[in-house]
Amino acid sequence: MRASASVSPSSPLIREYHRSLAELRSQGVEHEMGLRRPFENLLAGSARLHGWQYVAESGAKAGGHRIRPDGTVFDPNNFPRGFWESKDSHDDLDREIDRKLRRGYPDNNTIFEDTRRAVLYQNHSKALEADLSDARQLADLLFRFYAHTEPAIHEFEQAVAEFGKRVPDLALGLAGKIAEAHTHNRRFEAAFATFFSLCQLSLNPNISRAAVDEMLVQHLLTERLFRTIFDNPEFGRRNAIAAEVERVIGELVSQSFSRTEYLKSLDPFYLAIENAARTISDFSEKQLFLNGIYERFFRGYSVKVADTHGIVYTPPQIVDYMCGAVEEALKREFGLSLSSPGVTILDPCTGTGNFIVHLMRRISKRDLPRVYREQLFANEVMLMPYYIAALNIEHAYMELSGQYEPFEGLCFVDTLDLAEDRQLPMFSEANTERVERERKAQITVIIGNPPYNVGQLNENDNNKNRKYPVIDRRIHDTYAKGSKATSVSKLNDAYVKFFRWATDRLEGRDGIVCFVSNNGFVDQLAFDGMRKRLMQDFTQIDHIDLHGNVRKNPKLSGTTHNVFGIQVGVGITIAVRCGGDKRLRYSRVPEFWRKEEKLAFLTERSVPWATLAPDGGAWLVPEHAGEFAVGTPLVDVFGVHAMGVNSNRDEWVYDFSAVPLSGKVNRFVETYNAEVDRWRRSKQPASTIDAFVVADERLIKWSSTLKLKLLAGTYAEFTAQGIRPALYRPFSKRALYYDNVLIHRPGKWLSVFPPLAVEGENLVIALTGIASEKPFMALISNQICDLHLVGAGCGTQCFPFYTHSPDGSNRRENVTDSALENFRAHYRNPAISKWDIFHYIYAVLHHPAYREKFADNLKRELPRIPFAPDFAAFAAAGRELARLHVEYETLEPWPLEWVENPAYPLSYRVEDKMRLSKDKTALAVNPSLTLAGIPPETIAYRLGNRSALEWVVDQYRVTEDDRSGIRSDPNREDDPQYIVRLVGQVVRVSLDTVRIVGQLPTVFAE
Ligand SMILES: C[S@@+](CC[C@H](N)C(=O)[O-])C[C@H]1O[C@@H](n2cnc3c(N)ncnc32)[C@H](O)[C@@H]1O
Repeated sequence: MRASASVSPSSPLIREYHRSLAELRSQGVEHEMGLRRPFENLLAGSARLHGWQYVAESGAKAGGHRIRPDGTVFDPNNFPRGFWESKDSHDDLDREIDRKLRRGYPDNNTIFEDTRRAVLYQNHSKALEADLSDARQLADLLFRFYAHTEPAIHEFEQAVAEFGKRVPDLALGLAGKIAEAHTHNRRFEAAFATFFSLCQLSLNPNISRAAVDEMLVQHLLTERLFRTIFDNPEFGRRNAIAAEVERVIGELVSQSFSRTEYLKSLDPFYLAIENAARTISDFSEKQLFLNGIYERFFRGYSVKVADTHGIVYTPPQIVDYMCGAVEEALKREFGLSLSSPGVTILDPCTGTGNFIVHLMRRISKRDLPRVYREQLFANEVMLMPYYIAALNIEHAYMELSGQYEPFEGLCFVDTLDLAEDRQLPMFSEANTERVERERKAQITVIIGNPPYNVGQLNENDNNKNRKYPVIDRRIHDTYAKGSKATSVSKLNDAYVKFFRWATDRLEGRDGIVCFVSNNGFVDQLAFDGMRKRLMQDFTQIDHIDLHGNVRKNPKLSGTTHNVFGIQVGVGITIAVRCGGDKRLRYSRVPEFWRKEEKLAFLTERSVPWATLAPDGGAWLVPEHAGEFAVGTPLVDVFGVHAMGVNSNRDEWVYDFSAVPLSGKVNRFVETYNAEVDRWRRSKQPASTIDAFVVADERLIKWSSTLKLKLLAGTYAEFTAQGIRPALYRPFSKRALYYDNVLIHRPGKWLSVFPPLAVEGENLVIALTGIASEKPFMALISNQICDLHLVGAGCGTQCFPFYTHSPDGSNRRENVTDSALENFRAHYRNPAISKWDIFHYIYAVLHHPAYREKFADNLKRELPRIPFAPDFAAFAAAGRELARLHVEYETLEPWPLEWVENPAYPLSYRVEDKMRLSKDKTALAVNPSLTLAGIPPETIAYRLGNRSALEWVVDQYRVTEDDRSGIRSDPNREDDPQYIVRLVGQVVRVSLDTVRIVGQLPTVFAE
């Protein structure tokens, strides 16, 4: 056990236990039910300290009986690690223990207690007795309880960890054998060819041979586990799909290699896992164990598949909540139950089959055979999850009904493909029949956890989501059509396709769609059309926002706060189509709740709902919307605004200095031009481009637009004029190679800062764009700005004072004449100039009250500018801020204290990175020099999620990009003290900014 996690005698948990017990006693409570709460809280709290989970009254099987200990603590693998049984002080504890043990209660790690005395049983005998009123004895009891690990479990943990580690190697080894067999084993190759075309026909026309090889690998590596853990020796023959795979594998192993021999090296791991599984008496725990294997396998081996397909199992509390919610909605709106004839349920992305298993547990034994045979369906497109789902569901049925019966509702199919207008054989005859039966079924409930994935982030990965013409068109015609957003690319996300598909699959009937998914659709701009359409397609929509969006709030951690351990926000939607009035309800859990708290909240099933009044495409209409609307839209003040430069290959086109930049751009251009030549000579169809181009990121970094340029035969050319100064991050300038081929989306910068115009003449106000994941900020610049000025997800928009023709001629003021007139008229002052307005706006955008009040509005819309009572004060402050922010490199540095380390010769170089002290008042530049005495107010000047000084620390470090191997060094040979001086200058900028902003008069008129 980790010492840090132990509960000390003086811990608040133990104090609270004694306090609440004493309080209950003083109220005269004496019976077991009344007095058990304090110990339960103690156990739940201490379990959480270990990262474990306490579950009350979780059923288990022991000694052939079903037992229900008062409490069970589960470890992160969902193994039960200890039990608790409470009695009241009038019982004879020893006699009660005897009785329980005879009934088969576990005695491998169980606390029996009667609020005064506790007895801990471990390894079948009494291990410790404790007087519960004594804090030290109680702490010892908990220590021993949590420290206990059964040997089989210990072995299991090691085995699974080891298995996870070995899988990539073994899988690679197997892939090698298969590759060999492709060339040397003709019978295998023939069987493979048939199997491959089957996969193309029934799973995915673009499936690669590698993906099919991978299926064989998955089968070979896991089939034994399924057979043994589920005690199902016939698995390979019985399963509708495994039989097909076995046929190909039969040919593979007939000549190429011995399956048993090859897998022998895994024997110790298999055996350990199998032994551990044998110690698990309850099927539901075996199921949880398989869920773990499901995720581990893909994360360890098929990471790309895990990403595109969303391989992550759904925590049981969420599954249970959703099944219960569907049951309630059926009853409330239709007077039906889960087992009513005519209620036909489909999980379209079943993974491990969790939802179906939970639903089955809610159905009476009398109705179950009918429902199982006729009313339940599930689809899965990946082989291993398909196997796991079959095993789980069929085993659960056997447990509930007492007999084995294959689950004919399970289809090996791509759900979204079912919307396409074609009737095909679906892998095997049996599977085709199943798919046909599902197609004909009148589905009324669709429930599940669809994958979420917008598409690949890196073009070199060749990991694109598949296209589905029918669904994609439906999304275009419904969700995208109604949208006011400029970009609706987020609608490509797989979960959106599943919403569209599921809604259409109800085929106009009344019914229910219940999904747990990425919930960006609830409030992000690109989804306004989807929200509007959902309100048309359904009568009642309930959404529980489980939050966990790490990008929105970087103080959250995916692992700690997100129910799936991921980075995007998650929510549960229950959409019901029925008669009656439209209704939209929303509930959001506190942002900082940990995963366990969120799951416990769902278990309690008492959700505090707020009824929303949607306004067009907005569900969560921000506060102060009316007041914000009164301001003048910034887009009306300026004629043109420009998006920050989106290079999509920063490591190649930015550098601290022009010389290394020219070197790497030249290398890039050479590779790219060679690829253009190679492509032209190959005369291949455009659809093969992804597989054709060299994907090595040490040579080139692709983006969708670069591939289009290659297809068009456009060559790149390096020219020295392409190197431009740019503001990459706050107070961090770089040399940028700016041209139309190498920059993914160059935008309008040639007309803002034309190469031949005099630098410094023009200024832009750069700010976080719509739907920014960073807090609002504004920063003025006299150089081209990057799209991610304050980090990924901020979508910088820039408002220039001047615009030009791209050749630098024809300079025009970009503040419109009508804006000038409006300002002059409002303030009755004809002397107001366009520069005054520009500076006025810059100051308003810094006003703390403005930022705070309109924080939500500024995420949905570009700023609107109110008329503050004192125009002149704002214009003057804005001018001063602009000067500081543009001319920061020429300011006198703030006098920081130089602390030199006598053990080292003085150096100004940043070796790897600078380090700020915890209290942020001292900055170690390198081992020889620390700059101390940084005034604490410095860090109050923030841009996005960092202070200006933290941006300098973050940016001026030596890095090496993992994928391209490109090194970046911020030290300047021509000016060795640049960084040290910059620190002092940015401290000065920060302090002056904080002072000026603090002195701004009120921004809102009374
Ligand atoms: C998030 S998981 C579902 C987990 C499941 N609820 C559980 O607890 O095990 C999504 C599953 O959908 C499958 N899937 C993804 N796209 C699919 C598609 N187009 N058709 C069918 N299944 C799909 C994935 O292979 C994955 O197993």
